[in-house]
Amino acid sequence: MRIVVADTAASAARLAADLVEDFITAEPRPALGLATGETMEAVFAELVRRHRARGLSFAGVRAYLLDEYLDLDRQDPCAYRNVVHRLLARHVDLGAGAIHGPDPHAIDLDAECNRYERELRAAPIGLQLLGIGSNGHIAFNEPGSPLDSTTRVVALSEQTRAENARFFPAGQAVPTRAITQGIATIRAANQLVMVACGKHKADSVARALEGPVTSEAPASAIQLHPNVTVVLRASAAVGLSESLRAGAP
Ligand code: GLP
Repeated sequence: MRIVVADTAASAARLAADLVEDFITAEPRPALGLATGETMEAVFAELVRRHRARGLSFAGVRAYLLDEYLDLDRQDPCAYRNVVHRLLARHVDLGAGAIHGPDPHAIDLDAECNRYERELRAAPIGLQLLGIGSNGHIAFNEPGSPLDSTTRVVALSEQTRAENARFFPAGQAVPTRAITQGIATIRAANQLVMVACGKHKADSVARALEGPVTSEAPASAIQLHPNVTVVLRASAAVGLSESLRAGAP
């Protein structure tokens, strides 16, 4: 596992964007796994900046969503497909047809989860971007999620709903359910890039990187992956042991 500590959120976003850029320019039809959340907003903004400044192209990219809320209208701006469109796709040469994700309006959600799992395994994902929840979730795999879980419908914890309420207009309830890639699905990606910023992430980052690998800390599953880069703003790295921080350049 490579750990990189950055001084600012902007430099963390640039480091993550460097890895995405290397990946999408090295392959003709790259399969890129996209996360969402505030941390990713800065990464998307940096990628858009590079597209505008020097033509970084997404023309061949196939993008895959990590997770998606259930029970929102198709047009709801908070649906992750719409977030990715608004913050990334519409500003770069990434067509709407290039964004793949589970259909949260499918009649048979279990069948849809299985379909998306098969699609991901067939892709397969070359680089998967990941954030981390302050309770240690990755995607919407909440504490207690089996390490061998695949794409499925999950209930969101109260903590996650409370944290994500800031993305929803006042008065709109945060969904209680979502479809998420499972932990095994995420682990099947060739390369993982996790990004975390802020003191409120320090504890979950320390558990993910140095704690036991356990379903109680879903992000700890990244320890099982052979090709992981963790990009941390210094504030999110304060819980790490000296030896791990010393290993970071
Ligand atoms: C949501 C997403 C996760 C993401 C997390 C962190 O819950 N489902 O994939 O890791 O947010 O978000 P933020 O970067 O806003 O802290």
